[in-house]
Amino acid sequence: METIKTDVAIVGAGGAGLRAAIAIAEARPDLKVALISKVYPMRSHTCAAEGGAAGVIKPDDSLELHFNDTVGGGDWLCDQDVVDYFVREAAKELTQLEHWGCPWSREPDGSVGVRPFGGMKIKRTWFAADKSGFHILHTLFQTTLKYPSIERFDEYFTTDLLVVDGRCQGVVAIEMSSGRIFQFQAKSVIVATGGAGRIFPFTTNGAVKTGDGSAMAYRAGIPLKDMEFVQYHPTGLPSTGILLTEGCRGEGGVLRNKDGYRYLQDYGMGPETPLGKPVLKTMELGPRDRLSQAFWHEQQKGNTIPTKFGDCVYLDMTHLGEKHIDERLPLVRDLSISYSGVDPVTEQVPIRPVVHYCMGGIHTNIEAETPMPGLYAVGECACGSLNGANRLGSNSLTELLVFGKKAAQNAMEFAGGGNKTNESAVSEQAEQAQKRITELFDKSGGGETISGLRKEMMDSLEKGAGIYRTEQTLKESCATISQLRKRYAGIELHDKSNVYNTDLFQALELRNMLDLAQTVAEGALARKESRGSHQRLDFVDRDDENFLKHTLAYHQGEETPRIEYLDVIITKSQPGVRDYSGGGK
Ligand code: FUM
Repeated sequence: METIKTDVAIVGAGGAGLRAAIAIAEARPDLKVALISKVYPMRSHTCAAEGGAAGVIKPDDSLELHFNDTVGGGDWLCDQDVVDYFVREAAKELTQLEHWGCPWSREPDGSVGVRPFGGMKIKRTWFAADKSGFHILHTLFQTTLKYPSIERFDEYFTTDLLVVDGRCQGVVAIEMSSGRIFQFQAKSVIVATGGAGRIFPFTTNGAVKTGDGSAMAYRAGIPLKDMEFVQYHPTGLPSTGILLTEGCRGEGGVLRNKDGYRYLQDYGMGPETPLGKPVLKTMELGPRDRLSQAFWHEQQKGNTIPTKFGDCVYLDMTHLGEKHIDERLPLVRDLSISYSGVDPVTEQVPIRPVVHYCMGGIHTNIEAETPMPGLYAVGECACGSLNGANRLGSNSLTELLVFGKKAAQNAMEFAGGGNKTNESAVSEQAEQAQKRITELFDKSGGGETISGLRKEMMDSLEKGAGIYRTEQTLKESCATISQLRKRYAGIELHDKSNVYNTDLFQALELRNMLDLAQTVAEGALARKESRGSHQRLDFVDRDDENFLKHTLAYHQGEETPRIEYLDVIITKSQPGVRDYSGGGK
């Protein structure tokens, strides 16, 4: 096996990984950075983000308002020290991006433009038309190119963390184009591999989002936190799940049921406050969990529109006008026409809720540290408890910048701290990992297919752990996923080649997804309350007495995870009522 020695290994080259790499290269050009990704960086899922990134910039806004929106939006499951730090750093990071060349959309006077976003009671989302993720990713990627200390390993699939003496000392990765296996010996490691929306059948997430980094850390003994909190975005295209940004509603788009009625006013989100007022409180600008839940209720009442891709409601932007749509939402127009055959300038677009974001992930603290020395995590694969039980749209792009930098600062300090790599023990462990990979090629005869198991997993989660859950549906999901994990032993690789062996990578991804799916279902079964995106029809109220706590799921091999709980950090905002009715702040 070939060995690559580096100071900091970063796994994942989306927004979080790139931001971390830049921070290290700027501050410590003497440290070598290995940037390892299973896709070319510009194919990372950050690219698909549309609507924008939140940060206080306007005089009528304040850090306190951003803090309150985030904590209330997260149903008080956010760690408030983390939120406090985040809101203070947000605009600095977005300004830094501007200096690196990010083309933020502007106000007529030339200042940075902001648009309204769901659950944000004031306009604070910076945007680059509706291609914000593309521009952010491009800006970061082009910035990394000027630093010789960053060495990229594009299309390397990372399978294992190397943990020796209780410290993370590297990773094992497969070069996808050749099948060669490498050990990266590193003084510290940052995991930035993105979320795991692909465990559900219907998602805005690209095919790459299979939770590889989270599963790898979980198997290495790091708990996954709050995995039961899975966000449905209210406006996905019914055929593909492709996102139509919340920016559509921020720009004034409205949701209508089959009768043309703006039904959100019946779900505690009305009456409407005209846009442009300093405080936005209502209707389509409610938070995603509430909007997706309202869809479910309309469906139960028979107020949705049946289509061959499932029940839908309408997103109506016809009153916005062609000029405005082309300027602010050009991608949305393209996507609606290309994938649904509907031009939003003249017609209402059918949409439905679709899995968008995992609030849960690798347990980290405000420093982006995991409980394992030398290991850091950031972005959607991590749970630093910024987002609580429901993330507000546009907080995550900013999160990966703020905490990407933070992870970098800590990882480089650790790497520069004189820790020596235990080379022989690391190599021995890497060889064991290599053996596990090659054994996959030798397995035969179990009769299971990767696609078959994957479909059963996705369907079971959607049915049992979707927008609304019950003890019975969750028990069924838990039992199915447990079985699927056992049946995984019966898969066989039909492609035995070494060159871009997609059979192999899908097998590895499936194992990762099954591990994570189990933490979602088991965490949801154990949480006997309703909070944010986790809604139980059998426990309809939030229960702060028993569940104002983070869930920690620990890997136990073939067994179900061990579930423990951790107190939420509350500094200044005591749990209260989430008010989007127009009555509160
Ligand atoms: O709707 C959107 O543009 C999504 C943004 C986000 O998830 O932050």
